[in-house]
Amino acid sequence: EKYKIAVFVGSLRKESFNLKTAKALKALAPESLSLELVSIGQLPMFNEDLEDTPPREWEEFRQKIREADGLLFLTPEYNRSVPGVLKNAIDVGSRPYGKNSWDGKPAAVVSVSIGNISGFGANHHLRQSLVFVNVHTMAQPEAYIGDAASLFDENGNLTNDSTKDFLRSFMEAFEQWVKTHVNKPENVN
Ligand code: FNR
Repeated sequence: EKYKIAVFVGSLRKESFNLKTAKALKALAPESLSLELVSIGQLPMFNEDLEDTPPREWEEFRQKIREADGLLFLTPEYNRSVPGVLKNAIDVGSRPYGKNSWDGKPAAVVSVSIGNISGFGANHHLRQSLVFVNVHTMAQPEAYIGDAASLFDENGNLTNDSTKDFLRSFMEAFEQWVKTHVNKPENVN
């Protein structure tokens, strides 16, 4: 069986290390996981005044979340937290009140940073929001990818072998996590 994994990348730049890591994860993932990037940069900023007449982009985004069996978040750290664009996406997906599209989905978080604290602050701020929207985020293994500028070649391919090995085992653990959480009753929506 194939599980549809919606991938959210918290950086909009073309040469993003988070995006490069997402592409590496797609290549390293077990066969049962089908990873699909879901863009977040087009989403109008969340505004409660628009809830009765939601922008088309919000509705399409919410639909993509609902169709997913699992969620994979890659986040840079901006000022020790999650970039605004990713927080906005979480907020958009969580509304309107009572129709939280994230509800009950299994997820994993990867933080990627050029620094050596490896996005710890963003990783955990993201987990905090995911608790509230009732996402079942895999606790272990955690994934903190530091010194990211040294891990890829000029074509954006992940070349660091120990990082590859780690990410492969991370995705194997996530596959088990998805399998055990995907059919929970609260996941049917
Ligand atoms: C950063 N960066 C950063 N890095 C970090 O480890 N901790 C931090 O708090 C911050 N803060 C921060 C704020 C802002 C506004 C920017 C633009 C950058 C550096 C960040 O890790 C680096 O730009 C990464 O390359 C961003 O990820 P992508 O775009 O490569 O995926």
